[in-house]
Amino acid sequence: MIRPENRLKLVWDLGIFLFTVFTAIEIPLELVFGAGMDRRSLLFEIGGSLLFATDIALRFRTAILQNGKWVVDPGRVAAHYLKTTFVVDFFAAVPWTLLVFTLVGPPVTHANGLPDLWSLHTLDLLSLFRLIRVLDFTRRLERDAFINPSTLRLSTLIFWMVLFSHWIACAWYYLQGDGSAALHADNYLRALYFTTTTIMTVGYGDITPKTNPQIIFTIGVQIFGAGFYGYLIGNLASILANIDLIRTQFREKFDKISAFIKYYNLPADLQKRIRKYYTHLWEVRRGQDDAGALSDLPRSLKTEVSLFLNRPIVEKVPFMKDASEEIIRDIVLNLSPVIALPDEVIFQEGERGEEMYFISRGTVEVISADGRTVYATMTEGNFFGEIALILDSPRTATVRASDYADLYTISRKTFDHIIADYPDFAAKIRTLAKERLKEREH
Ligand code: CMP
Repeated sequence: MIRPENRLKLVWDLGIFLFTVFTAIEIPLELVFGAGMDRRSLLFEIGGSLLFATDIALRFRTAILQNGKWVVDPGRVAAHYLKTTFVVDFFAAVPWTLLVFTLVGPPVTHANGLPDLWSLHTLDLLSLFRLIRVLDFTRRLERDAFINPSTLRLSTLIFWMVLFSHWIACAWYYLQGDGSAALHADNYLRALYFTTTTIMTVGYGDITPKTNPQIIFTIGVQIFGAGFYGYLIGNLASILANIDLIRTQFREKFDKISAFIKYYNLPADLQKRIRKYYTHLWEVRRGQDDAGALSDLPRSLKTEVSLFLNRPIVEKVPFMKDASEEIIRDIVLNLSPVIALPDEVIFQEGERGEEMYFISRGTVEVISADGRTVYATMTEGNFFGEIALILDSPRTATVRASDYADLYTISRKTFDHIIADYPDFAAKIRTLAKERLKEREH
Protein backbone atom coordinates (compact mmCIF):
# COMPACT_ATOMS: atom_id res chain seq x y z
CA MET A 1 0.00 0.00 0.00
CA ILE A 2 1.26 3.48 -0.87
CA ARG A 3 1.00 6.36 1.57
CA PRO A 4 -0.13 9.65 0.04
CA GLU A 5 2.79 11.39 1.76
CA ASN A 6 5.24 9.18 -0.13
CA ARG A 7 7.60 11.43 -2.08
CA LEU A 8 7.27 9.54 -5.34
CA LYS A 9 3.50 9.61 -5.03
CA LEU A 10 3.65 13.36 -4.51
CA VAL A 11 5.74 13.77 -7.66
CA TRP A 12 3.29 11.54 -9.51
CA ASP A 13 0.32 13.61 -8.33
CA LEU A 14 2.08 16.78 -9.37
CA GLY A 15 2.72 15.24 -12.80
CA ILE A 16 -0.95 14.31 -13.17
CA PHE A 17 -1.93 17.80 -12.11
CA LEU A 18 0.36 19.43 -14.68
CA PHE A 19 -0.83 17.07 -17.39
CA THR A 20 -4.45 17.85 -16.53
CA VAL A 21 -3.83 21.57 -16.77
CA PHE A 22 -2.09 21.04 -20.08
CA THR A 23 -5.07 19.02 -21.32
CA ALA A 24 -7.48 21.74 -20.22
CA ILE A 25 -5.54 24.27 -22.29
CA GLU A 26 -4.78 22.05 -25.23
CA ILE A 27 -8.19 20.47 -25.89
CA PRO A 28 -10.20 23.64 -26.61
CA LEU A 29 -7.32 24.88 -28.78
CA GLU A 30 -7.25 21.61 -30.65
CA LEU A 31 -11.00 21.72 -31.00
CA VAL A 32 -11.11 25.18 -32.50
CA PHE A 33 -7.81 25.52 -34.28
CA GLY A 34 -6.80 21.90 -34.81
CA ALA A 35 -6.87 20.35 -38.24
CA GLY A 36 -8.70 17.24 -37.10
CA MET A 37 -7.27 13.97 -35.92
CA ASP A 38 -3.58 13.82 -36.60
CA ARG A 39 -0.82 11.61 -35.27
CA ARG A 40 0.19 14.06 -32.58
CA SER A 41 -3.27 14.43 -31.06
CA LEU A 42 -3.74 10.68 -31.26
CA LEU A 43 -0.52 10.04 -29.36
CA PHE A 44 -1.47 12.71 -26.87
CA GLU A 45 -4.82 11.06 -26.28
CA ILE A 46 -3.36 7.58 -25.88
CA GLY A 47 -0.62 8.88 -23.58
CA GLY A 48 -3.14 10.72 -21.42
CA SER A 49 -5.39 7.69 -21.14
CA LEU A 50 -2.51 5.44 -20.14
CA LEU A 51 -1.43 7.97 -17.53
CA PHE A 52 -4.89 8.19 -16.05
CA ALA A 53 -5.42 4.43 -16.16
CA THR A 54 -2.17 4.00 -14.20
CA ASP A 55 -3.40 6.59 -11.76
CA ILE A 56 -6.63 4.67 -11.23
CA ALA A 57 -4.60 1.53 -10.54
CA LEU A 58 -2.46 3.48 -8.06
CA ARG A 59 -5.53 4.80 -6.32
CA PHE A 60 -6.61 1.26 -5.55
CA ARG A 61 -3.26 0.82 -3.83
CA THR A 62 -3.15 4.12 -1.93
CA ALA A 63 -3.94 4.13 1.76
CA ILE A 64 -6.72 6.49 2.85
CA LEU A 65 -7.18 8.49 6.02
CA GLN A 66 -10.39 7.74 7.89
CA ASN A 67 -11.11 9.13 11.34
CA GLY A 68 -7.46 10.05 11.74
CA LYS A 69 -6.26 6.50 11.00
CA TRP A 70 -4.63 5.09 7.87
CA VAL A 71 -6.75 2.42 6.23
CA VAL A 72 -4.48 -0.05 4.39
CA ASP A 73 -6.90 -2.90 3.85
CA PRO A 74 -7.16 -3.20 0.01
CA GLY A 75 -10.86 -4.18 0.17
CA ARG A 76 -11.84 -1.12 2.17
CA VAL A 77 -9.66 1.19 0.08
CA ALA A 78 -11.24 -0.13 -3.12
CA ALA A 79 -14.76 0.15 -1.74
CA HIS A 80 -14.09 3.73 -0.68
CA TYR A 81 -12.62 4.64 -4.08
CA LEU A 82 -15.45 3.01 -6.02
CA LYS A 83 -17.96 4.96 -3.93
CA THR A 84 -16.25 8.31 -4.40
CA THR A 85 -14.36 9.51 -7.49
CA PHE A 86 -13.90 6.28 -9.44
CA VAL A 87 -16.65 6.97 -12.00
CA VAL A 88 -15.33 10.42 -12.83
CA ASP A 89 -11.76 9.11 -13.02
CA PHE A 90 -12.93 6.32 -15.29
CA PHE A 91 -14.66 8.73 -17.68
CA ALA A 92 -11.56 10.88 -17.71
CA ALA A 93 -9.33 7.93 -18.56
CA VAL A 94 -11.29 6.56 -21.55
CA PRO A 95 -9.79 7.67 -24.90
CA TRP A 96 -13.19 8.75 -26.22
CA THR A 97 -12.17 10.18 -29.55
CA LEU A 98 -10.10 7.16 -30.40
CA LEU A 99 -12.89 4.84 -29.36
CA VAL A 100 -15.55 6.50 -31.50
CA PHE A 101 -13.07 7.06 -34.31
CA THR A 102 -12.44 3.33 -34.40
CA LEU A 103 -16.10 2.37 -34.05
CA VAL A 104 -17.76 4.98 -36.29
CA GLY A 105 -15.16 6.53 -38.58
CA PRO A 106 -13.11 9.71 -38.96
CA PRO A 107 -14.49 13.07 -37.79
CA VAL A 108 -16.29 15.35 -40.24
CA THR A 109 -14.60 18.53 -41.36
CA HIS A 110 -16.41 21.59 -42.73
CA ALA A 111 -15.87 22.83 -46.24
CA ASN A 112 -14.13 25.92 -44.81
CA GLY A 113 -11.52 23.70 -43.23
CA LEU A 114 -12.79 24.08 -39.64
CA PRO A 115 -13.54 20.84 -37.86
CA ASP A 116 -17.22 20.42 -37.15
CA LEU A 117 -17.69 21.10 -33.46
CA TRP A 118 -20.60 18.71 -33.20
CA SER A 119 -18.70 15.85 -34.76
CA LEU A 120 -16.50 13.35 -33.01
CA HIS A 121 -13.87 15.81 -31.98
CA THR A 122 -16.19 17.25 -29.36
CA LEU A 123 -15.72 14.05 -27.43
CA ASP A 124 -12.33 15.35 -26.48
CA LEU A 125 -14.16 17.64 -24.11
CA LEU A 126 -14.94 14.62 -21.98
CA SER A 127 -11.29 14.63 -20.99
CA LEU A 128 -12.02 17.84 -19.12
CA PHE A 129 -13.46 15.56 -16.47
CA ARG A 130 -9.86 15.27 -15.49
CA LEU A 131 -10.03 18.77 -14.08
CA ILE A 132 -11.66 17.28 -11.03
CA ARG A 133 -8.08 16.37 -10.22
CA VAL A 134 -7.22 20.04 -9.87
CA LEU A 135 -9.77 20.33 -7.08
CA ASP A 136 -8.25 17.26 -5.48
CA PHE A 137 -4.81 18.71 -5.74
CA THR A 138 -5.69 22.10 -4.24
CA ARG A 139 -7.53 20.40 -1.40
CA ARG A 140 -4.46 18.31 -0.78
CA LEU A 141 -2.19 21.37 -0.80
CA GLU A 142 -4.47 23.05 1.69
CA ARG A 143 -4.19 20.07 4.01
CA ASP A 144 -0.57 19.04 3.69
CA ALA A 145 1.51 21.97 2.51
CA PHE A 146 2.55 24.90 4.60
CA ILE A 147 1.00 27.43 2.24
CA ASN A 148 -0.92 30.35 3.59
CA PRO A 149 -4.59 29.34 2.96
CA SER A 150 -5.37 32.80 1.63
CA THR A 151 -2.47 32.67 -0.84
CA LEU A 152 -3.69 29.27 -1.98
CA ARG A 153 -7.24 30.53 -2.42
CA LEU A 154 -5.99 33.49 -4.38
CA SER A 155 -3.85 31.28 -6.64
CA THR A 156 -6.77 28.89 -7.22
CA LEU A 157 -9.06 31.76 -8.11
CA ILE A 158 -6.53 33.19 -10.58
CA PHE A 159 -6.00 29.72 -12.05
CA TRP A 160 -9.73 29.25 -12.76
CA MET A 161 -10.07 32.77 -14.06
CA VAL A 162 -7.26 32.26 -16.56
CA LEU A 163 -8.62 28.87 -17.61
CA PHE A 164 -12.19 30.13 -18.07
CA SER A 165 -10.91 33.10 -20.06
CA HIS A 166 -9.00 30.72 -22.30
CA TRP A 167 -12.06 28.55 -22.89
CA ILE A 168 -14.28 31.51 -23.63
CA ALA A 169 -11.65 32.98 -25.97
CA CYS A 170 -11.50 29.68 -27.88
CA ALA A 171 -15.29 29.56 -28.15
CA TRP A 172 -15.44 33.19 -29.31
CA TYR A 173 -12.79 32.47 -31.90
CA TYR A 174 -14.81 29.54 -33.17
CA LEU A 175 -17.97 31.65 -33.42
CA GLN A 176 -16.11 34.23 -35.45
CA GLY A 177 -15.25 31.48 -37.94
CA ASP A 178 -12.82 33.35 -40.14
CA GLY A 179 -12.28 30.29 -42.27
CA SER A 180 -8.73 29.53 -41.30
CA ALA A 181 -8.02 26.30 -39.55
CA ALA A 182 -4.54 27.10 -38.33
CA LEU A 183 -3.91 28.85 -35.03
CA HIS A 184 -3.20 32.51 -35.57
CA ALA A 185 -1.65 34.01 -32.51
CA ASP A 186 -2.99 37.45 -33.42
CA ASN A 187 -6.56 36.22 -33.68
CA TYR A 188 -6.32 34.26 -30.48
CA LEU A 189 -4.95 37.34 -28.73
CA ARG A 190 -7.89 39.38 -30.01
CA ALA A 191 -10.35 36.74 -28.80
CA LEU A 192 -8.68 36.70 -25.38
CA TYR A 193 -8.85 40.48 -25.27
CA PHE A 194 -12.57 40.39 -26.05
CA THR A 195 -13.05 37.81 -23.29
CA THR A 196 -11.23 39.75 -20.60
CA THR A 197 -12.92 43.05 -21.39
CA THR A 198 -16.31 41.32 -21.34
CA ILE A 199 -15.71 39.26 -18.21
CA MET A 200 -14.26 42.21 -16.33
CA THR A 201 -17.34 44.22 -17.38
CA VAL A 202 -15.11 46.81 -19.08
CA GLY A 203 -16.53 46.25 -22.59
CA TYR A 204 -14.75 48.83 -24.76
CA GLY A 205 -16.97 47.85 -27.63
CA ASP A 206 -14.20 47.72 -30.22
CA ILE A 207 -14.88 44.06 -30.82
CA THR A 208 -18.61 43.41 -30.97
CA PRO A 209 -20.86 40.46 -31.73
CA LYS A 210 -22.39 40.52 -35.22
CA THR A 211 -24.31 37.31 -35.81
CA ASN A 212 -27.08 35.94 -33.61
CA PRO A 213 -25.00 33.10 -32.16
CA GLN A 214 -22.31 35.63 -31.32
CA ILE A 215 -24.83 37.90 -29.59
CA ILE A 216 -26.29 35.03 -27.58
CA PHE A 217 -22.82 33.89 -26.63
CA THR A 218 -21.83 37.41 -25.58
CA ILE A 219 -24.93 37.74 -23.40
CA GLY A 220 -23.92 34.48 -21.72
CA VAL A 221 -20.36 35.69 -21.17
CA GLN A 222 -21.63 39.00 -19.81
CA ILE A 223 -23.93 37.32 -17.30
CA PHE A 224 -21.21 34.88 -16.31
CA GLY A 225 -18.72 37.76 -16.22
CA ALA A 226 -20.83 39.91 -13.92
CA GLY A 227 -21.25 37.02 -11.48
CA PHE A 228 -17.68 35.85 -11.69
CA TYR A 229 -16.27 39.35 -11.45
CA GLY A 230 -18.37 40.09 -8.37
CA TYR A 231 -17.27 36.82 -6.82
CA LEU A 232 -13.66 37.56 -7.68
CA ILE A 233 -13.63 41.06 -6.25
CA GLY A 234 -15.47 39.97 -3.10
CA ASN A 235 -12.99 37.16 -2.59
CA LEU A 236 -9.98 39.28 -3.40
CA ALA A 237 -10.95 41.80 -0.74
CA SER A 238 -11.34 39.15 1.93
CA ILE A 239 -8.24 37.23 0.81
CA LEU A 240 -6.06 40.32 0.84
CA ALA A 241 -7.32 41.23 4.28
CA ASN A 242 -6.65 37.70 5.52
CA ILE A 243 -3.30 37.08 3.88
CA ASP A 244 -1.64 38.60 6.88
CA LEU A 245 -4.40 37.88 9.35
CA ILE A 246 -2.24 38.42 12.40
CA ARG A 247 -1.16 41.86 11.23
CA THR A 248 -4.77 42.79 10.37
CA GLN A 249 -6.02 41.69 13.78
CA PHE A 250 -3.23 43.55 15.49
CA ARG A 251 -3.93 46.69 13.49
CA GLU A 252 -7.61 46.49 14.49
CA LYS A 253 -6.61 46.23 18.13
CA PHE A 254 -4.25 49.15 17.72
CA ASP A 255 -6.93 51.25 16.00
CA LYS A 256 -9.35 50.49 18.82
CA ILE A 257 -6.89 51.58 21.48
CA SER A 258 -6.00 54.69 19.45
CA ALA A 259 -9.68 55.63 19.28
CA PHE A 260 -9.97 55.10 23.05
CA ILE A 261 -6.92 57.28 23.73
CA LYS A 262 -8.32 60.06 21.56
CA TYR A 263 -11.82 59.85 23.02
CA TYR A 264 -10.61 60.24 26.60
CA ASN A 265 -7.95 62.73 25.56
CA LEU A 266 -5.20 61.06 27.60
CA PRO A 267 -2.07 63.11 28.33
CA ALA A 268 0.34 63.24 25.40
CA ASP A 269 3.11 61.44 27.26
CA LEU A 270 0.80 58.58 28.26
CA GLN A 271 -0.46 58.31 24.69
CA LYS A 272 3.10 58.05 23.46
CA ARG A 273 3.94 55.34 25.94
CA ILE A 274 0.87 53.31 25.03
CA ARG A 275 1.73 53.54 21.33
CA LYS A 276 5.33 52.57 22.02
CA TYR A 277 4.17 49.61 24.03
CA TYR A 278 2.05 48.39 21.14
CA THR A 279 4.92 48.79 18.72
CA HIS A 280 7.08 46.74 21.03
CA LEU A 281 4.35 44.12 21.42
CA TRP A 282 4.24 43.78 17.65
CA GLU A 283 8.00 43.57 17.34
CA VAL A 284 8.57 40.90 19.93
CA ARG A 285 5.42 38.83 19.75
CA ARG A 286 3.85 39.82 16.47
CA GLY A 287 0.94 40.85 18.66
CA GLN A 288 0.22 37.20 19.34
CA ASP A 289 -1.83 36.34 22.33
CA ASP A 290 -0.43 32.82 22.70
CA ALA A 291 -3.07 31.54 25.05
CA GLY A 292 -5.95 32.84 22.94
CA ALA A 293 -4.59 31.58 19.63
CA LEU A 294 -4.19 28.05 20.90
CA SER A 295 -7.32 27.79 22.99
CA ASP A 296 -9.03 25.44 20.51
CA LEU A 297 -6.24 22.86 20.48
CA PRO A 298 -6.59 19.68 22.51
CA ARG A 299 -4.49 19.57 25.68
CA SER A 300 -1.75 17.29 24.38
CA LEU A 301 -1.10 19.50 21.33
CA LYS A 302 -1.24 22.65 23.45
CA THR A 303 1.40 21.15 25.73
CA GLU A 304 3.66 20.36 22.79
CA VAL A 305 3.35 23.86 21.35
CA SER A 306 3.93 25.41 24.72
CA LEU A 307 7.02 23.24 25.29
CA PHE A 308 8.38 24.16 21.87
CA LEU A 309 7.82 27.89 22.36
CA ASN A 310 8.84 28.30 25.98
CA ARG A 311 11.59 25.74 26.46
CA PRO A 312 14.34 28.10 25.22
CA ILE A 313 13.35 30.66 27.87
CA VAL A 314 14.08 28.25 30.68
CA GLU A 315 17.03 26.55 28.98
CA LYS A 316 18.74 29.92 28.58
CA VAL A 317 19.17 30.07 32.36
CA PRO A 318 22.66 28.68 33.09
CA PHE A 319 21.44 27.55 36.49
CA MET A 320 18.98 25.21 34.80
CA LYS A 321 21.58 23.53 32.58
CA ASP A 322 21.74 20.35 34.65
CA ALA A 323 18.09 20.35 35.63
CA SER A 324 16.17 17.23 34.76
CA GLU A 325 13.70 17.06 31.88
CA GLU A 326 10.79 16.79 34.34
CA ILE A 327 11.63 20.05 36.12
CA ILE A 328 12.06 21.89 32.84
CA ARG A 329 8.73 20.53 31.64
CA ASP A 330 6.96 21.47 34.86
CA ILE A 331 8.29 25.01 34.67
CA VAL A 332 7.80 25.50 30.94
CA LEU A 333 4.19 24.40 31.04
CA ASN A 334 3.37 26.90 33.76
CA LEU A 335 4.98 30.04 32.40
CA SER A 336 2.89 33.16 31.79
CA PRO A 337 4.19 36.08 29.73
CA VAL A 338 4.51 39.60 31.14
CA ILE A 339 5.99 42.69 29.51
CA ALA A 340 7.58 45.39 31.66
CA LEU A 341 7.93 48.91 30.26
CA PRO A 342 11.15 50.94 30.51
CA ASP A 343 11.59 52.20 34.11
CA GLU A 344 8.58 50.25 35.30
CA VAL A 345 8.93 48.93 38.83
CA ILE A 346 8.15 45.24 38.62
CA PHE A 347 7.87 44.95 42.39
CA GLN A 348 8.96 46.87 45.47
CA GLU A 349 11.16 45.77 48.32
CA GLY A 350 9.06 44.61 51.27
CA GLU A 351 6.07 43.50 49.21
CA ARG A 352 4.72 39.98 49.47
CA GLY A 353 6.02 37.93 46.55
CA GLU A 354 3.57 35.91 44.50
CA GLU A 355 5.73 34.90 41.55
CA MET A 356 9.21 34.30 40.27
CA TYR A 357 10.44 35.80 36.97
CA PHE A 358 12.53 34.57 34.04
CA ILE A 359 14.01 37.16 31.68
CA SER A 360 13.54 36.24 28.05
CA ARG A 361 14.65 39.58 26.62
CA GLY A 362 15.61 42.99 27.98
CA THR A 363 17.37 44.20 31.14
CA VAL A 364 16.24 44.67 34.74
CA GLU A 365 17.99 46.20 37.75
CA VAL A 366 17.84 44.94 41.32
CA ILE A 367 17.87 48.11 43.43
CA SER A 368 17.39 49.27 47.00
CA ALA A 369 13.99 50.57 48.10
CA ASP A 370 15.12 54.19 47.69
CA GLY A 371 16.51 53.41 44.24
CA ARG A 372 19.98 54.71 45.08
CA THR A 373 21.91 51.43 45.16
CA VAL A 374 21.98 49.00 42.26
CA TYR A 375 22.71 45.50 43.59
CA ALA A 376 22.68 43.74 40.26
CA THR A 377 21.78 44.14 36.61
CA MET A 378 20.26 41.13 34.92
CA THR A 379 19.59 40.32 31.30
CA GLU A 380 18.24 37.44 29.29
CA GLY A 381 18.87 34.01 30.72
CA ASN A 382 18.52 35.19 34.33
CA PHE A 383 15.79 34.89 36.90
CA PHE A 384 14.73 36.84 39.98
CA GLY A 385 12.08 36.96 42.67
CA GLU A 386 12.90 33.49 43.98
CA ILE A 387 13.99 34.58 47.48
CA ALA A 388 10.57 35.72 48.63
CA LEU A 389 9.11 32.42 47.51
CA ILE A 390 11.67 30.02 48.88
CA LEU A 391 12.20 31.77 52.21
CA ASP A 392 8.57 32.84 52.42
CA SER A 393 9.76 36.36 53.21
CA PRO A 394 8.95 39.81 51.82
CA ARG A 395 10.79 40.94 48.69
CA THR A 396 14.42 41.62 49.59
CA ALA A 397 14.89 44.29 46.92
CA THR A 398 13.06 46.38 44.35
CA VAL A 399 13.31 45.26 40.73
CA ARG A 400 12.95 47.78 37.91
CA ALA A 401 13.03 47.27 34.15
CA SER A 402 15.73 49.32 32.37
CA ASP A 403 14.16 48.89 28.94
CA TYR A 404 11.32 46.80 27.53
CA ALA A 405 11.65 43.50 29.35
CA ASP A 406 10.03 40.37 28.10
CA LEU A 407 9.43 38.32 31.21
CA TYR A 408 7.83 35.01 32.07
CA THR A 409 6.52 34.22 35.52
CA ILE A 410 5.69 31.11 37.48
CA SER A 411 3.26 31.41 40.36
CA ARG A 412 4.01 30.70 44.00
CA LYS A 413 1.81 27.60 43.79
CA THR A 414 3.81 26.11 40.91
CA PHE A 415 7.07 27.10 42.55
CA ASP A 416 6.04 25.39 45.82
CA HIS A 417 5.13 22.24 43.90
CA ILE A 418 8.49 22.17 42.16
CA ILE A 419 10.39 22.76 45.39
CA ALA A 420 8.45 19.98 47.09
CA ASP A 421 8.87 17.53 44.21
CA TYR A 422 12.55 18.10 43.48
CA PRO A 423 14.54 18.49 46.72
CA ASP A 424 17.94 18.64 44.93
CA PHE A 425 16.75 21.51 42.84
CA ALA A 426 15.27 23.21 45.93
CA ALA A 427 18.65 22.97 47.66
CA LYS A 428 20.37 24.61 44.70
CA ILE A 429 17.90 27.48 44.62
CA ARG A 430 18.23 27.93 48.35
CA THR A 431 22.04 28.17 48.06
CA LEU A 432 21.78 30.71 45.29
CA ALA A 433 19.24 32.75 47.25
CA LYS A 434 21.59 32.81 50.23
CA GLU A 435 24.51 33.85 48.02
CA ARG A 436 22.48 36.69 46.57
CA LEU A 437 21.41 37.84 50.00
CA LYS A 438 25.00 37.71 51.24
CA GLU A 439 26.15 39.72 48.24
CA ARG A 440 23.63 42.36 49.09
CA GLU A 441 24.99 42.74 52.58
CA HIS A 442 28.50 43.59 51.28
P1 CMP B 1 13.07 38.52 46.02
O1 CMP B 1 13.57 38.81 47.37
O2 CMP B 1 11.86 37.68 45.86
O3 CMP B 1 12.84 39.91 45.26
C1 CMP B 1 13.98 40.68 44.91
C2 CMP B 1 14.85 39.83 44.07
O4 CMP B 1 16.06 40.40 43.64
C3 CMP B 1 15.33 38.65 44.87
O5 CMP B 1 14.25 37.83 45.14
C4 CMP B 1 16.43 38.12 44.04
O6 CMP B 1 15.95 37.31 43.01
C5 CMP B 1 16.98 39.39 43.47
N1 CMP B 1 18.22 39.78 44.20
C6 CMP B 1 18.30 40.26 45.43
N2 CMP B 1 19.57 40.56 45.71
C7 CMP B 1 20.33 40.22 44.67
C8 CMP B 1 21.71 40.27 44.35
N3 CMP B 1 22.57 40.72 45.19
N4 CMP B 1 22.08 39.81 43.15
C9 CMP B 1 21.20 39.36 42.28
N5 CMP B 1 19.89 39.30 42.53
C10 CMP B 1 19.45 39.73 43.68
